[in-house]
Amino acid sequence: IKEIGFENEKVREYAVGSKERAELKKTLKEMREQMLDIPIVIGGKEIRTGNTGKCIVPHDNKKVIGIYHKAGKKEAEMAIDAALSAKKKWEKLSWEHRVGIFLRAAELAAGPWRARLNAATMLTQSKTYFQAEIDAACESVDFLKSNASSLYKIYSEQPISTRDSWNRTQYRPLDGFVFAVTPFNFTAIGCNLSAAPAMAGNTVIWKPASNVVYSSYIVYQLFKEAGLPDGVINFLPGSGSEIGNVVLKDPNLAGIHFTGSTDTFQEMWKAVGDNIQNYRSFPKLVGETGGKNYVLAHASADVDTLVAALIRGAYELQGQKCSATSRCYIPKGLWPEVKEKMIREISTIKVGDVEDFSNFIGAVIDQASFDKIKSYIDYAKNSHDAEILAGGKCDDSKGYFIEPTFILTNNPDFRTLKEEIFGPVLTAYVYEDERFDYAVDLCESTTKYGLTGSIFAKDRYVIAEVEDKLMHTAGNFYINDKTAGASVGLQPFGGARASGTNDKVGSIFNMMRWISPRVIKDNF
Ligand code: ALA
Repeated sequence: IKEIGFENEKVREYAVGSKERAELKKTLKEMREQMLDIPIVIGGKEIRTGNTGKCIVPHDNKKVIGIYHKAGKKEAEMAIDAALSAKKKWEKLSWEHRVGIFLRAAELAAGPWRARLNAATMLTQSKTYFQAEIDAACESVDFLKSNASSLYKIYSEQPISTRDSWNRTQYRPLDGFVFAVTPFNFTAIGCNLSAAPAMAGNTVIWKPASNVVYSSYIVYQLFKEAGLPDGVINFLPGSGSEIGNVVLKDPNLAGIHFTGSTDTFQEMWKAVGDNIQNYRSFPKLVGETGGKNYVLAHASADVDTLVAALIRGAYELQGQKCSATSRCYIPKGLWPEVKEKMIREISTIKVGDVEDFSNFIGAVIDQASFDKIKSYIDYAKNSHDAEILAGGKCDDSKGYFIEPTFILTNNPDFRTLKEEIFGPVLTAYVYEDERFDYAVDLCESTTKYGLTGSIFAKDRYVIAEVEDKLMHTAGNFYINDKTAGASVGLQPFGGARASGTNDKVGSIFNMMRWISPRVIKDNF
């Protein structure tokens, strides 16, 4: 077999009058009109517990487009049995056959399933058509193909044999099952976190975030359509603590593939620690968690490039990306121009129903997020250390809408510069031009996170120095670009410190975590 080539899926434009746009609009309408009844799926069997939750449209928050059945203790136990039982055949299947199923899923996602994936993502995550396209369609396809390519590279690596011994590495899957716990903000993350361990021969229990069970279920159905055997991925919506309580204590837990909050990952890590003597193997813990991502502008920065990056980095997808820009450090000399252009740009941003394709920002995911983000904006409004320069209005009467908000503070320790808000809120701190080193230190010292960061400068000596000094502040560091929007295969993504285990999704670093190699020496 030759190396599997990997090329990123081309982003469709959905131009006015195009066939793609008409198909997406039609699918959105159909989904709105149906009421999906989403089961738990264990070992291929659909289970309806009757303990249900609602699938709500965030930009039209009285609208329910589905219900999902919640798994509890009993279903978690059944899912473990199903995963272990399916593993016996699955791990014996050659990797070409395993990967073949997921490459077929990628083809379906790029073709006939594209509109369903995008529409479900728009409706349940309030993503614009463009944000849905780069996530649900393109990034899902990219993850599946890139993982196939990574596996090829890993499996090709073999030790040296000698005259009297033949040495080989057998790339076994882990000895147990993998627990995939996925977030609300990316359909592609749900797709990848469940698929990656399965592609390497593991079986998986997948618990999607409760507010996006709908779009996650479409991904699950896509895998089934591509030919995924029963029990390889078990779909288990429900309460994280109830399911986690069973799954994390099971001796067969071999790995966790997580994206979500730092607190939740720490809790899971503690639960694993408390149970460490009871596992058959040390579970592999792979997590991508929070961020408080910075943009550092130098006096030599190009203001238009900087402003464009701040707007897109901070406000696309309502700032609900772990990689979103949430703090920026601007030199006093550039500030008047930056401030004026930011205020002007923000005033042109259209916030609203994403089913109207002209809007740039939809609603935040749910009431709890809305309340949390609003409380930060209110805090800034009521503080003597800060001023709201643009936005600041919050209205949850029809959908969970929050205006893109730009805060200025003169306090480098201000709360909105330190804590993760996960909403469309950007805070600026203005430093004296001659105190650039101080601004560099603030990027490092203000938060516990280490996910993404950017330097904006024309001066290459400055760029090189900052890149070196801020070595550990970001797993993904950008030069003259926004802090969000890593492409699979081009910028493998992940951060360290409180931002996660930095196992770079969609790369060989991540795929290695789902493998437990056995080396065989055959003596002639
Ligand atoms: N990988 C996503 C980004 O870089 C989260 O924005």
